[in-house]
Amino acid sequence: MCGIVGYVGSQQVAPILLDGLSKLEYRGYDSAGVAVYTGEQLEVVKAKGRLEILRDMLDGGRNLKGTIGIGHTRWATHGQPSDVNSHPHISSSGRFAIVHNGIIENYMQLKNRLMEKGFAFASETDSEVIAQLIEYYYNGDILDTVVMLQNSLEGSYALGILCLDHPDEIIAMRKDSPLIVGLGEGENFIASDIPAILSYTRDIYHLEEKEIVVMRADEVKVYDTSKELVDKEVFHVDWDVSAAEKGGYEHFMIKEIMEQPKALTDTIKPRIQDGEVVLDDITLTKDQLEKVDKILIVACGSAYHTGIVAKYVIEGLTRKPVEVDLASEFRYRDPILTEHTLVVIISQSGETADTLAALRYAKQQGARTLAIVNVVGSSIAKESDDVIYTWAGPEIAVATTKAYSCQLAVLYLLGVYVGRQLGKISDEENLGMIRELLALPEKVATVLEKKEDIQYFASRHYADKDVFFLGRNLDYAVCMEGSLKLKEISYIHSEAYAAGELKHGTISLIEEGTLVVAVATQDRLFDKTMSNVKEVKARGAEVLGLTTEHNTRINETTDFQFYIPETLDIFLPSLAIVPLQLFGYYMASMKGCDIDKPRNLAKSVTVE
Ligand code: F6R
Repeated sequence: MCGIVGYVGSQQVAPILLDGLSKLEYRGYDSAGVAVYTGEQLEVVKAKGRLEILRDMLDGGRNLKGTIGIGHTRWATHGQPSDVNSHPHISSSGRFAIVHNGIIENYMQLKNRLMEKGFAFASETDSEVIAQLIEYYYNGDILDTVVMLQNSLEGSYALGILCLDHPDEIIAMRKDSPLIVGLGEGENFIASDIPAILSYTRDIYHLEEKEIVVMRADEVKVYDTSKELVDKEVFHVDWDVSAAEKGGYEHFMIKEIMEQPKALTDTIKPRIQDGEVVLDDITLTKDQLEKVDKILIVACGSAYHTGIVAKYVIEGLTRKPVEVDLASEFRYRDPILTEHTLVVIISQSGETADTLAALRYAKQQGARTLAIVNVVGSSIAKESDDVIYTWAGPEIAVATTKAYSCQLAVLYLLGVYVGRQLGKISDEENLGMIRELLALPEKVATVLEKKEDIQYFASRHYADKDVFFLGRNLDYAVCMEGSLKLKEISYIHSEAYAAGELKHGTISLIEEGTLVVAVATQDRLFDKTMSNVKEVKARGAEVLGLTTEHNTRINETTDFQFYIPETLDIFLPSLAIVPLQLFGYYMASMKGCDIDKPRNLAKSVTVE
């Protein structure tokens, strides 16, 4: 996630910006930069790489003089990490400098319009369009100008803006991306997050959607979109730095679980235009898709689990055969690959050694490759023929949650897109799928609202030694991920079983009091799964049943129930996984485990 910091006051601004940016490093970034009003112009210094590079370029802030400025750490979404794609971006005339966090969904339309009017763009980013658009709209009245800007931008943004004509003011605003105002004595701040300003002030304003801040050293004015002044309440922060980094949550993992509605919106919404899935990111043509003989999904760990969901979903939507492989096994089974095989590589980090090796192997064998990756500019993203980014934002907890959910969302989008291209999805079916895809973030939010129910359930079971997850078909795929979440962070032994397979061996492990989590969201398989639940109940198991809202008869066979909202069967894994993530989290939390950094695990596994 990008980080923003801004300062206006009487002190030298560059060291304050560098300090604030260093406090936002935990959010993850690939480049950094600052813009400062030097008394004559808006001077921008920015570079790809660690903040240390920028600090050296600025001689610790000593060689860029000024008392008003904005800074940025970039986590790339549109455009590779590079010096030119780093922020701040400056408008053609040099009158405006901007820093941006978020995704501008309609940037291509805006960019094309501005290019027709003679604006020249330096970078590949969506953010630069903001700098040029504000220049285009500028009529001398800055408030008027930014209202016009807001009316044109679709997507999410937190923005810090400097204007040469108003050299004592920072303009700021937000929509669907975080931004706060820090209130000091003769100095004021903006920041993406509290840690950036905590050593200067503890008094802040939280900004509502689209509120506009006009900030000087001695006053902060906040306006609504009708340019009316808003009376803001001061919030006093009494968290320490570590709690502030986690947004007040105890761990990054729960913060990231709670961020899923936003991450899903960022991943899904820009890819749906006029009722169709649009994957601008990929170059595969309809003709090439028609010739695809097989889709082979390759990944590790949780990413592999999204592949298992996708096997069921994409095969159904495209009627092309889909196989799923563990990346560490793929090369050693001599897979049948042709130039018409589409190998889909899934990786949050884009650096997992086994997955990268699988990608290289697939390319060597002449297959076409498509990567689904979260980290822009990562090795897998660079080496694959096509990439679709997940836009989950940086994930800090070792156990993946929001990246998993976004991978799933991209796989759904891919399935619908390919199915549509191949004529396998009717207009009516498409309409239903698009509606449900767009509704997923809100439905995930509904599930998250009930997190205390899971917390209560975990409080009764955190001392258990074994947990079994049972489900059929898509529910089985969800069980695999639920089981991994639980065991990797709580160290409780756990297994995921295809519900019908239990009686072929594993049922001998079920005894009085064994905890079983039965996932039964797929209506057509509900009764079958309930038969398997009865088998474990008869052997003394205590069962948590997870199903959709209308299946209340699950309470006839299970001891505790959790209901998720209805959606199309194929999208239910996105909702079913959320209580299981919460379950793993609360079990580990009650056991006092080191949740964000479980023993023996690394976030990115770069050895085979
Ligand atoms: C589990 C987890 C891992 C990763 C796996 C692949 O919570 O995070 O299983 O999914 O190591 O990592 P990426 O997606 O970075 O290739």
